[in-house]
Amino acid sequence: MKRIFLVCISAVGLCSCGNNATTQSNQTKDTVAVKDLHTQSNADSVVVKHLDLDIKVDFEKKQITGCATWDIENPHNQEVLKLDTYNMTIDSATVDGINSSLLMKGEVPHLGEELQIPILPQTKKVAIYYKTGNKARALQWLDPQQTNGKKYPFLYTQSESIYARSWIPCPDGPGIRFTYSARVTVPKELMALMSADNPQTTNDSGIYHFNMNIPIPAYLMALAVGDIRFRSIDERTGVYAEPTMIDKARYEFEDVGKMVKTAEALYGPYRWGRYDAIVLPPGFPIGGMENPKLTFCTPTIIAGDRSLMNLIAHELAHNWSGNLVTNATWDDFWLNEGFTVYFERRITEAMTDKSYVDMLWELGYQDLEAEVADQKERDTWLKLDLKGHDPDDGLTDIPYEKGALFLRLIEDNVGREKFDAFLKKYFDEHAFKTITTEQFLTYLNDNLLKGDTTLINKLNIKAWVYGPGIPANCPRVQPERFKQVDSARTAFLNGTSPKDINTKNWSTNEWLHFMRKMPKPLTLEQMKALDAAYHLTTSGNSEIADLWYVMAVAADYKEAYAAMDIFLSRVGRRKFLEPLYKEMMQTHKEAMATSIYAKYKQNYHPLTQESIDKIVGK
Ligand code: BES
Ligand code: ZN
Repeated sequence: MKRIFLVCISAVGLCSCGNNATTQSNQTKDTVAVKDLHTQSNADSVVVKHLDLDIKVDFEKKQITGCATWDIENPHNQEVLKLDTYNMTIDSATVDGINSSLLMKGEVPHLGEELQIPILPQTKKVAIYYKTGNKARALQWLDPQQTNGKKYPFLYTQSESIYARSWIPCPDGPGIRFTYSARVTVPKELMALMSADNPQTTNDSGIYHFNMNIPIPAYLMALAVGDIRFRSIDERTGVYAEPTMIDKARYEFEDVGKMVKTAEALYGPYRWGRYDAIVLPPGFPIGGMENPKLTFCTPTIIAGDRSLMNLIAHELAHNWSGNLVTNATWDDFWLNEGFTVYFERRITEAMTDKSYVDMLWELGYQDLEAEVADQKERDTWLKLDLKGHDPDDGLTDIPYEKGALFLRLIEDNVGREKFDAFLKKYFDEHAFKTITTEQFLTYLNDNLLKGDTTLINKLNIKAWVYGPGIPANCPRVQPERFKQVDSARTAFLNGTSPKDINTKNWSTNEWLHFMRKMPKPLTLEQMKALDAAYHLTTSGNSEIADLWYVMAVAADYKEAYAAMDIFLSRVGRRKFLEPLYKEMMQTHKEAMATSIYAKYKQNYHPLTQESIDKIVGK
């Protein structure tokens, strides 16, 4: 049986919910059955309350082994407990301490294998003894040379969207929450951290105990193991990193304490106790991950001047949108990410100023335009249809930027004060719950739009949520600071020497806009002139360097290739690698792409490898 939530939808005049694949005919008129198609667990009818994890991290075998014990209740007298697993060996299981049979149902594409364990009405504890496989998609095992320090191995997990099941047999859907405790055994020199209360020093035993007493969904299960140090920022915030990175990280993260306070002033208390972040080795496949109590992030945000900290604002914001109020299924992913981008920009605006954040909105709009041009129409609705797909396929700029712009449109129409009060109430009233798109639209109508038909027509919600592309009423900011950048670019293209252009007060945003709108390819003379004046090939800012290397590939500007090679050898962030490899392929530098990829493939995360395989052609 698939997971089904019964959700009451009150009669809403907002729009016709066009995407009713989940409506079941035997339901009453106002009831929509919400299926999470990406879990095979039956944790909707068996209550899964707490996980006790006892695992050992073996760097030699690149394997996690151990036992996951689930505290359950079985009020509906189910005969089996069904859990998600992926590429895992299950050795045995016990039910209330007694050896039990178990059944693996065979692999289903994208979803992995359903594990079934017989249970009784009075069953309280189900323990599963298991080993992870070598295709565990959540795990990246780094050899010492792939770390910054080069002395010790490193392991980190990335569980979102549905990869927790590759390192813990679990009910792996965003709508199922549980608390957890863990005992993690690691090599003695190393420290272990989780999305839980964390140690701040390495101990001598190699055994770490964790507690997470706030219920979370499986996609927020996280573990990092390595040679790790901690530095405090203020009484509730701090940063972890490898020893060679920790001082730089501490400098970059200076304002994080203030950032948490800024977020609280906007949308209510931070409810997770401590807020720490760990700066991971460069192979981390994404920018950041909002693991509760401990954001995971890429070192490519360490620019030396705190200019890329909006990524931390983003992960912090998820502690309201996502971790507190969670998308019910991955089809509702924009409720996690669109809200978070909106919230991130509000934090950044409060900590910088409007002229700065206007640029982020415009850069986001440009990303959205490019994404819409690239995607099939159906994949550009806010409400996704990921049936039969890996939820990672929904990981485009649509839920992020279209989602954020939709909220901004509402703000623009009702006014900031009213919208902020609405959002604060929304977070309060849905704390530790899940929500579907349809529930949100109902809540929006009941609490903000209140049937105001003029307003509702003006917003045209249907076009945003159940329609393609960028709706005609989409807000577009014209950043003042980009006007000067546009003139600078035009002047350069008309022959003005870069040395005569005033770029002194430019932030990362101005540089990105300057470069993005350049014709492609530039001539070698133009590339040389830019490089001589601005040292772009050796830029320590990963966003700027990445875009520059794309321009270099397009123009076949060989002077940048050595630096680009080093960048590609270290960095595993998909967002940076994909455009670079794509540009090589599109400009007929297949041999270059293939030979660079062959050298560095092993440095990339399994998921990054999957996406680059598709670009380069295995
Ligand atoms: N939660 C996401 C990362 C994610 C989403 C991983 C879906 C796997 C599946 C995280 O908060 C995120 O959005 N990261 C962005 C940061 C950016 C938007 C500031 C990233 O990694 O690029
Ligand atoms: Zn996010």
